Amino acid sequence: MAVELTWLGHGTWEITTDGGRIVLDPFLDENPLAPKKADQVEADFILVSHGHYDHIADAEKIARRTGATIIACYEICEYFQRRGIERVCPMNIGGGSRQPFGRVKMTPAWHSSTLPDGSPGGTAAGFLLFFPEGNVYFACDTGLFQDMALIGRAGLALAVLPIGDNFTMGPEDALEAVRLLRPRRVVPVHVNTWPVIEQDAAGWAEQVRRETGVETVLLRPGGSIRL
Ligand code: NI
Ligand code: MN
Repeated sequence: MAVELTWLGHGTWEITTDGGRIVLDPFLDENPLAPKKADQVEADFILVSHGHYDHIADAEKIARRTGATIIACYEICEYFQRRGIERVCPMNIGGGSRQPFGRVKMTPAWHSSTLPDGSPGGTAAGFLLFFPEGNVYFACDTGLFQDMALIGRAGLALAVLPIGDNFTMGPEDALEAVRLLRPRRVVPVHVNTWPVIEQDAAGWAEQVRRETGVETVLLRPGGSIRL
């Protein structure tokens, strides 16, 4: 079975693998773009990149219903434990962990990470997932950083980059990120959820193709990509 990645709008993904179902940064019930609600998602693992509401909102709800393990920064796992969620896998930047679906490595992200209750969420992160079918980099919420070149050395079948601007990289810096990462394919996210992050995603995709030769995949919420 191939790895199938479905974009649920904003920064939220549902990933089906031979080793289990993963949900990344679940923001569904209050996400205007989400094609499904939190109670319609099945998960064995929930990856949380940082503590902001638009990435963590439905993690607790999904974890309680499904019994999924939350994989996140140490401080975020402590937050969920305080709220009675037992199954957590605390990690931190640069660390990797072997999971049934493959290896997951926590990458740096230039961003903040306050939790919904106001407590500090540690350092914001991205995720590099090593599937047998190929490596996938989720930059999550971040500004551009030169060390993306190091992340790209893993060899990326797919990079998922924010292009919305204002809270994260905008289109120009995301184009530069593609040059550093050199992925086989790239998908833009964290865009057009609200007016403050409205961008011309199709125009960006065309520019990336023209200037880097990297294949861009434009998904609508609910759309999927296979490795
Ligand atoms: Ni954020
Ligand atoms: Mn965000």
